[in-house]
Amino acid sequence: MNNGNSGKNDQKPWALVTGASAGIGAEFCRQLANNGYRLVLVARRTEKLQALADELMQTRATQSRIITADLSKKNACEIICQQLADDNIDIEFLVNNAGYGLPGSFHVPSWQEHADFIQVMMTAVCELTWRLLPGMQKRGRGNIVNVASVAGLVSSSAGHTLYGASKSFLIRFSEALALENTQTGVKVCALCPGFTYSEFHDVNGTRKMISKLPDYLWLDAKDVVADTLKAMSADDVKTVVIPGRQYKAIVFANRHLPWLANILTKRNAKHFRVTD
Ligand SMILES: NC(=O)c1ccc[n+]([C@@H]2O[C@H](COP(=O)([O-])OP(=O)(O)OC[C@H]3O[C@@H](n4cnc5c(N)ncnc54)[C@H](OP(=O)(O)O)[C@@H]3O)[C@@H](O)[C@H]2O)c1
Repeated sequence: MNNGNSGKNDQKPWALVTGASAGIGAEFCRQLANNGYRLVLVARRTEKLQALADELMQTRATQSRIITADLSKKNACEIICQQLADDNIDIEFLVNNAGYGLPGSFHVPSWQEHADFIQVMMTAVCELTWRLLPGMQKRGRGNIVNVASVAGLVSSSAGHTLYGASKSFLIRFSEALALENTQTGVKVCALCPGFTYSEFHDVNGTRKMISKLPDYLWLDAKDVVADTLKAMSADDVKTVVIPGRQYKAIVFANRHLPWLANILTKRNAKHFRVTD
């Protein structure tokens, strides 16, 4: 990972963060700026991206490039990469972070909503990586973080049907990609946070329900991102990063006592999954 914090802007490497307008993505931008990167900010809400770009310039003298894009659109990744090429921007750090939850059992959302979800949560992640990876390999260095979730590692629950499945996909994708790149200088990890304070649960309408969860289950985006960047700066990168001791314990229990994890998840899912 770059650590040239004090370099001039035109010598700093570029990082691209999807879902930069809020939550974990915005925090990645702040901490990557602290680590000496310029930022390409991608999301749909231009005014939020502009506010973050202003903040990064004022507080960290960091240059940003805003790209307003809806990743549910099939040509979004191609357009983003064309804009990068037009501006001669090489991406050295890619954070595939944009995401959301789709409440309800499988037949509650329309097929179009599911198709958009699959596009944002999986297809766009793969396509952006596919388009940006060759440049990293050619330069012999790069970092890719795919923001998955602890939901991709623990037992399934009814409701939000494709969410855990999409995050399991990202974890497996990241593991394979990491193995393919052991000799290329490109580091890959799947970040698997548990419940994290952000706009996520406001956007999917579960804030009231989810706020009843015990405090110890909640993570701060600052810690989630700091843990990830620390893991990425190690020579031997852990491919699956699970921030927080409580979540490491939950994942451990799921792996070693799956029958107990299934019972507990079934019993508690009503506190964080909507099925109707
Ligand atoms: N918060 C949690 O408890 C939690 C736990 C585990 C994993 N995660 C994962 O962490 C990632 C970030 O979530 P968060 O918690 O930071 O949520 P958040 O605060 O709601 O931020 C989500 C970001 O994704 C962007 N986004 C959503 N749909 C998009 C689209 N169609 N095109 C482009 N950008 C889009 C949003 O920007 P615009 O609305 O401006 O487009 C926003 O910047 C997600 O992948 C989520 O699944 C979250």
